[in-house]
Amino acid sequence: MKAILCTRFGGPDDLEFSDIPDPVPGAGEVVVAVKAVALNFFDTLIIAGKYQFKPPFPFSPASEFAGVVESVGAGVTSLKPGDRVLGYGGHGAAREKVAIGADHVVPIPDSLSFDRAAGLTVIYGTTLHALKDRAHLKPGESLAVLGASGGTGLAAIELGKLMGARVIACASSDDKLAFCRQHGADETINYATDELKEALRRVTGGNGVDVIYDPVGGPYAEPALRSIAWAGRFLVIGFAAGEIPKIPLNLALLKGCDIVGVFWGAFIARDPAGQRANMADLVRWAAEGKLSAHVHATYPLADTPAALKAIADRKVMGKVILHP
Ligand SMILES: NC(=O)c1ccc[n+]([C@@H]2O[C@H](COP(=O)([O-])OP(=O)(O)OC[C@H]3O[C@@H](n4cnc5c(N)ncnc54)[C@H](OP(=O)(O)O)[C@@H]3O)[C@@H](O)[C@H]2O)c1
Repeated sequence: MKAILCTRFGGPDDLEFSDIPDPVPGAGEVVVAVKAVALNFFDTLIIAGKYQFKPPFPFSPASEFAGVVESVGAGVTSLKPGDRVLGYGGHGAAREKVAIGADHVVPIPDSLSFDRAAGLTVIYGTTLHALKDRAHLKPGESLAVLGASGGTGLAAIELGKLMGARVIACASSDDKLAFCRQHGADETINYATDELKEALRRVTGGNGVDVIYDPVGGPYAEPALRSIAWAGRFLVIGFAAGEIPKIPLNLALLKGCDIVGVFWGAFIARDPAGQRANMADLVRWAAEGKLSAHVHATYPLADTPAALKAIADRKVMGKVILHP
């Protein structure tokens, strides 16, 4: 089978498009014929050796996929060949077939396309955990989303609206903000042209924002935190801008607010039942059309380097999908 392999840390052009043997399912595993692979921002980091987890070489990037079960290993009774599924494995999905533990695979209905299903787990799984379990977002609260047209940002807009929040989308261009409005944002702020702290205060009538969702970091985190409401929650999601902000702790004291870490990968290891319950909701909402799982562009597997460059160049709205 064909696979994208990372044989040494480097950039997208250092990846190799190779032939490797087909996988065989071990006990408790299934082999899935992959129809769609979703890339995430962290795939740009994992191939460069800049991610918190460094897989042994050679490995395939991409953590999530959708496809059809081809064979099942000993002891697997919950799945059978022909089942349509999505799956999540940390890395290793940019290939034609994936062998994976049956407990990392979720059946999907016929009404959910492989392209939309492939990108559901990471961005929506992270965001449901963040907004529900970590921020305890309540109907009627305001929710500001930074990097709002990106993968996690889009998920925060859509899940924020489903949970009854008033969503303020913040992004770097008017095109991106128009996309955010199409996906349900009530207010928009262009943080490339507007001063973020003042703009957030303005759109909340001076009250400040109840919950801030920050997957970007860099120069935006501190101005956003300075606009938070009394007893607000600031969700630390990621640092797509590259720089990890250093926050003056007196802000937390003065605002009576919480700065809340979100680590979805650790959450699913510690609470697999909670993750399974969240995925059941996400698959159902996506199949019902309540979540877009918007696909920005699709690429053949061989063009994985171009897809990763589009993410790193800040050009993607929603997800990029690979077709093996
Ligand atoms: N905590 C967790 O458990 C968890 C789970 C999943 C992802 N993450 C992290 O969340 C972050 C975002 O992931 P994502 O999948 O949403 O990424 P994404 O789809 O690439 O979106 C990131 C957004 O960040 C903004 N950005 C600002 N400066 C950037 C730069 N220098 N390069 C790229 N983007 C930049 C862009 O929006 P504008 O152009 O509008 O600024 C972009 O839309 C990553 O750091 C990822 O590792 C964390």
